[in-house]
Amino acid sequence: NLIMVDRKKLKNPNGLILGTPGSGKSFSAKREIANAFLVTDDDIIINDPEGEYSPLVNRLKGQVIKISPNSTQFINPMDINANYSEEDNPLSLKADLILSLCELVVGGKEGLLPVEKTVIDRCVHLIYRKYFANPCPENMPILEDLYNALLQQDEKEAHHVATALEIYVKGSLNLFNHRTNVNVNNRIVCYDIKELGKQMKKLGMLIVQDQVWGRVTANHSSGKSTRYYMDEMHLLLKEEQTAAYSVEIWKRFRKWGGIPTGLTQNVKDLLSSREVENIFENSDMIIMLNQAAGDRQILAKQLNISPHQLSYVTHSGEGEGLLFFGNVILPFVDRFPTDLELYRIMTTKLGEVSEGAQK
Ligand SMILES: Nc1ncnc2c1ncn2[C@@H]1O[C@H](COP(=O)(O)OP(=O)(O)O)[C@@H](O)[C@H]1O
Ligand SMILES: [Mg+2]
Repeated sequence: NLIMVDRKKLKNPNGLILGTPGSGKSFSAKREIANAFLVTDDDIIINDPEGEYSPLVNRLKGQVIKISPNSTQFINPMDINANYSEEDNPLSLKADLILSLCELVVGGKEGLLPVEKTVIDRCVHLIYRKYFANPCPENMPILEDLYNALLQQDEKEAHHVATALEIYVKGSLNLFNHRTNVNVNNRIVCYDIKELGKQMKKLGMLIVQDQVWGRVTANHSSGKSTRYYMDEMHLLLKEEQTAAYSVEIWKRFRKWGGIPTGLTQNVKDLLSSREVENIFENSDMIIMLNQAAGDRQILAKQLNISPHQLSYVTHSGEGEGLLFFGNVILPFVDRFPTDLELYRIMTTKLGEVSEGAQK
């Protein structure tokens, strides 16, 4: 039988897709994306750490944004819009992001020093003055404006932060020191961060999450829903800053018409702290695919599922498992026809990926 669900009817539309590598998590997400693209007007954003969504997104005439040191596509972490914050002042929220960003760049074990925080916050307010006086794209600040403002402060702490930022402004890691030059307003946008190295990946993930937030808030004011897919979500949960942001997304998105979906192979990451556990508890849709033995026990306890139900996620084939939707639990088998064009742009199996899709 065909299973049709509308996540917008749930109390909480947040979703998780859980399963061992190769069980079909990304494929399930792509299936939902293709369906949402066709039957809704929702915008769709994808955080793609493996660089595997571009064939589908390109086919739907979406925008793939490749974020890498060799890319000529740029997004500006300083981007802001008038609806960016639920409070009166969008700038204080932006200052939070820039503090997190500086913390990743500068911070040692203890994070930023109080004086460092103060000078960064002061400079953030300075560099947006021109933009808020005349909000045109040319006045949007970039990282270099922050760098210069820091150098003009008297405190030695400000200079310390500026020096740490230097490589991201003038040096080889300057990919976030540009105005946005891609169409981040396409209906379907995929942020491909595969080629970012370890340190830059943290920064990249944080900046992507902020872009998503900007989009969700802007869409909300025009009455549009935004679906956000986070593949390999354990990468986000591993880092303090992006984990905190993910928790916020799970708490606040619903109110803003956001529909987040996290994909991960590692259930334990979802239970690593009380805060992160919120993500698990506030997901009214879970697509549970094949599970490893240890994770199966954890899930059985967390979700109160019977041994019989567990059999559907034990040594199950790709695309087979259990669907949790509100208070309904339903076993499913999804054998997607492999002779369709849609299959060829969604599969990642070597040899099956269509030639046109590979570039
Ligand atoms: N429902 C399905 N129907 C047919 N083939 C599937 C299905 N789900 C997954 N597959 C196949 O299995 C491969 C691996 O799935 P994938 O979603 O990449 O796994 P994961 O993201 O969990 O590591 C896919 O590329 C596809 O070829
Ligand atoms: Mg995957």
